[in-house]
Amino acid sequence: MDNCTYVIFGATGNLSRVKLMPALYHLEAAGKLSEGTRILAIGRRDWDLEKCTGQVREWVNAKARGGLDPEVFERFASRLSYFRGDLTEQGMYSRLHRHIDDSEHLPSNVAFYMAIRPAEFGVVTENLSDSGLLDESRGWKRVVIEKPFGYDLESAQSLQRRISRYLREDQLYRIDHYLGKGTVQNVLVYRFANTMMEPLWNRNYIDHIQITHSESMGVDSRADFYDGAGAMRDMIQSHLLQLLTLVAMEPPVSMEAESLRDEKVKVLKSIRPIVQQAVHAHAFRAQYTEGVVDGQRVNGYLQEPKVPAGSITETYAALKLYIDNWRWRGVPIYLRTGKRMAESQSLVSICFRHPPQQFFRDTPMDHMRQNWVLLGIQPAECLKVEMTVKEPGLEMRTRQTSLDASLRRTDEAQTDAYEELLLDVIQGDRSLFLRYDEVEYAWRVVDPVLRAWATERDFIHTYPAGSWGPEESRRLFEKEAQHWRHSLAPEHP
Ligand SMILES: NC(=O)c1ccc[n+]([C@@H]2O[C@H](COP(=O)([O-])OP(=O)(O)OC[C@H]3O[C@@H](n4cnc5c(N)ncnc54)[C@H](OP(=O)(O)O)[C@@H]3O)[C@@H](O)[C@H]2O)c1
Repeated sequence: MDNCTYVIFGATGNLSRVKLMPALYHLEAAGKLSEGTRILAIGRRDWDLEKCTGQVREWVNAKARGGLDPEVFERFASRLSYFRGDLTEQGMYSRLHRHIDDSEHLPSNVAFYMAIRPAEFGVVTENLSDSGLLDESRGWKRVVIEKPFGYDLESAQSLQRRISRYLREDQLYRIDHYLGKGTVQNVLVYRFANTMMEPLWNRNYIDHIQITHSESMGVDSRADFYDGAGAMRDMIQSHLLQLLTLVAMEPPVSMEAESLRDEKVKVLKSIRPIVQQAVHAHAFRAQYTEGVVDGQRVNGYLQEPKVPAGSITETYAALKLYIDNWRWRGVPIYLRTGKRMAESQSLVSICFRHPPQQFFRDTPMDHMRQNWVLLGIQPAECLKVEMTVKEPGLEMRTRQTSLDASLRRTDEAQTDAYEELLLDVIQGDRSLFLRYDEVEYAWRVVDPVLRAWATERDFIHTYPAGSWGPEESRRLFEKEAQHWRHSLAPEHP
């Protein structure tokens, strides 16, 4: 594997604390970093190497699986250096360039990780280019960009125009950390490494699909960011639409990045556009009020620190989509996300069509249940196929049982999505990163809804914290019998 310098802009911030540094430490522990790889932390703060190392040690200590291993940390710390600089200061970039060039320890393959405010992505890229830091004559240069990529379709297009002046698409790594999760990748393995399901994976057998990401947490200290975004931008435009592409895509030619991304884009392009008059039939938003979560009384959104009075930002969003292609035409797909919900989980639930009733007509069986395939993304990483079986006994009664294929055995370690993604950047594997057209088409899906919501500022539905969201969201369902699936446990055991 190539040696590289991982330059982290925003190394003193939250993302670096909770994700990047612990992930790099775990890569060290797993022996995945090549001998010469170095980490150059950049921050505004008046830190020196000792202060930086001490701080990173604390962060890693809080996250290290099985506790921090002092020997591993020592090896990891020997790769670390700190560079003080302000991103808004032009001279910083030429100093940084000289620093990397002059230091014999810093490899000239460089990955720049932008753990900074999205508003800075454009200007930092411009400055990197102007100071020659993106010059590839002595080694590759890659730039990793955190989400969100843009605030809506127009801002995403303008950010793209700006950065593509300085970077080729193959130098850009747009992170959606959801794609780094083992269970999300398992969606592809499950679909394409087993012949059993694929023939059933279409409109002939599937009634509808649900993708849910719920959080019991509120907005926490991130209200200043969240209030300007809301659930549709924060979760649905990015993570949930990505998950949908994996569930719905055609088999790609290979797992190679461009083949995968071509198929994902085709799904996004096939989503039926939501016309302005149909926004209410396709999208639903709400905000949490005070309630009880895990036995504790918690504030409503409007009482959270830093939330502006009268805000109508949605903390819950649900969306009904149709994919107008041969495989999926007519199958409704429901995406749903919310904060301060009853439980934290990410779940893909696939509901199959009703079997014909007539076979059991003269038996006590009153109701035929549908089969479900459930893909637990988090916290449970599992795959369940729910089937109807006969109850023991003399009568023809049935119950639901669940065939369970867990992704991970209890003795197998869990890795964090960032570990895989940070390693992929060094290896130049872009399959789990977003190509620009994916981002653009995802914005095209949600943009009409966001535009309609932006003009309707008088009213928003509410739901008590700790609930599964408002009952009224049922209006999105196409049929009376459809209902939100909350749990991995069989509904009629
Ligand atoms: N935190 C998460 O879990 C998370 C999850 C998904 C995506 N993201 C994305 O990751 C990015 C970073 O988020 P974050 O939560 O880590 O933000 P944060 O805690 O506010 O950190 C921002 C970082 O940028 C640095 N910075 C700001 N202005 C600077 C300047 N002029 N010069 C030099 N450094 C400057 C800050 O340095 P100082 O400390 O010196 O101010 C800090 O290290 C954002 O794009 C966010 O959307 C974060």
